[in-house]
Parts: sequence; structure tokens; C-alpha cells
Amino acid sequence: MTIHRLEKATALTPGFKKPLEVAGRLFVLVCGEQGPALVDRVCPHAGGNLADGEIVGHRIRCPIHRFIFDLATGDCARGRREGWGPLNVYPLLTVDGYLCVDL
Ligand code: FES
Repeated sequence: MTIHRLEKATALTPGFKKPLEVAGRLFVLVCGEQGPALVDRVCPHAGGNLADGEIVGHRIRCPIHRFIFDLATGDCARGRREGWGPLNVYPLLTVDGYLCVDL
């Protein structure tokens, strides 16, 4: 496991969205109404780019089929579906004023 620095914590205000590649993996760092979240960039439903998604409260709406995922749990607002799981949400750390992830 390695700590990766993502963004200065003070840079994130609600509505913030930034695509990131960390350790060869694609993410999007976002800020919903309850604070920052790091999620997979690729939608678990059918591969939509969540970097183009819309932040709605503390959720993100995929631009392809408009499913909405909770930024705290990754759950889809339409409930669990067979064959695809929730959106992966990664725990964030704050180190020296920067949001970081341990991968
Ligand atoms: S690809 Fe994201 S909701 Fe279908």
C-alpha cells in the first residue's frame, strides 16, 4: 500500500470534479454536499465516464443512462442490480492539508 497525494483539501467545494489516474487506475475526485469522495471513473453499469457526471447533493449522476450513485456508499439509487455492483468509493486521508488515498 502506498499513500498517493491527490489534491489540496481546501480546493474542494461542492460540485468539484477532477479526473485522476493513480497507480494506473482511473478515478474521479469529487465533492458532494457532505464533502469529498474518490470513486472509480468508470460507471459500474455500462462504462460511462463519471468524470462527465453531474453532482447532485451527495450523489453523482452518470451521463450515459443517468443512474445516480451515492458518494458515501456507492449504492445506486435504483437499488442493487444483478450483474453489476455498486460504484467503488475509496477512503480518503488528509495528510499535511492534502487529500490522499492509500492504494
Ligand atoms: S453507463 Fe452509467 S448508468 Fe449506464
